[in-house]
Amino acid sequence: MRWVSLCAVLGAALLAPAVNARPCQTRSTRTPSATHSPTLPISSIISVSTPISTPVSSDVSVSLSTPVSTDLSTPVGSTTTPTSTPTPEPTPVNLIQNGNFEGEDVSVWALRTVTIEEDAAKAASGSHYARFYLENESGAGGNHLNQTINGLDTSRLYRLSFSGAVFGLTDLGDATCEIQALANGDKKGAWPIRTIPVGSYSSYDTNFIADAEDFVLTFRIRCSGQNLVTLDFAVDDIVLRDIGTAPVSPV
Ligand SMILES: *[C@@H]1O[C@H](CO)[C@@H](O)[C@H](O)[C@H]1NC(C)=O
Ligand SMILES: *[C@@H]1O[C@H](CO)[C@@H](O)[C@H](O)[C@H]1NC(C)=O
Repeated sequence: MRWVSLCAVLGAALLAPAVNARPCQTRSTRTPSATHSPTLPISSIISVSTPISTPVSSDVSVSLSTPVSTDLSTPVGSTTTPTSTPTPEPTPVNLIQNGNFEGEDVSVWALRTVTIEEDAAKAASGSHYARFYLENESGAGGNHLNQTINGLDTSRLYRLSFSGAVFGLTDLGDATCEIQALANGDKKGAWPIRTIPVGSYSSYDTNFIADAEDFVLTFRIRCSGQNLVTLDFAVDDIVLRDIGTAPVSPV
């Protein structure tokens, strides 16, 4: 016991610090250096994933169920598995402001005979939607839901998508009605309005190349024929995204 304690004391006082400290130090320096190199990419992955998750979360309120759930699951999974490489796909940003009509600033939308309604039972998401209501009208003009979009790239391809549903008693007579999307008055998409089933949202989308960096995006309803129609149509979750380089030979 004495020898051991002496030896321990001596070793600790004289020899041990030099001998023992080195393996300890080399271990302590090697182990962190060994763990540092894996932790660096991990921490860099985490730091990368945070900016990704923030724009995605801002997108959550807008694009809702389908794209968001997949977008969220991918970065979350990639943070837990260190082997995954940084995601090459760019962060999808909704270029539409307040596309789900939930934000306080509704003034980003210019409306004509279109109203923004609060009714969670009728909204595709949240509690607000844009309502196109035609009552005994020809459906030949008037209704507009506009937003000015700035800073687009004319060499990129954009996807416009939204949800639409018919509510209430619909009377189209012999007419057919469609919801149209225009950029600076040029039609970029037109979709026949499905009146059945009532209250069930359908997804609408179209891809297009921006003709100009800034344009007024317009949604409107147009009906064929001269007869009067009654139609209660809801639009929600409007999303405009850059989806890549425009094709070399535009269609
Ligand atoms: C919406 O845009 C269209 C096309 O640019 C324009 O004719 C119409 O006056 C606009 N409506 C409103 C309410 O700003
Ligand atoms: C449309 O107008 C007719 C009369 O012109 C009227 O009988 C009918 O109730 C009106 N429909 C609606 C939905 O107001």
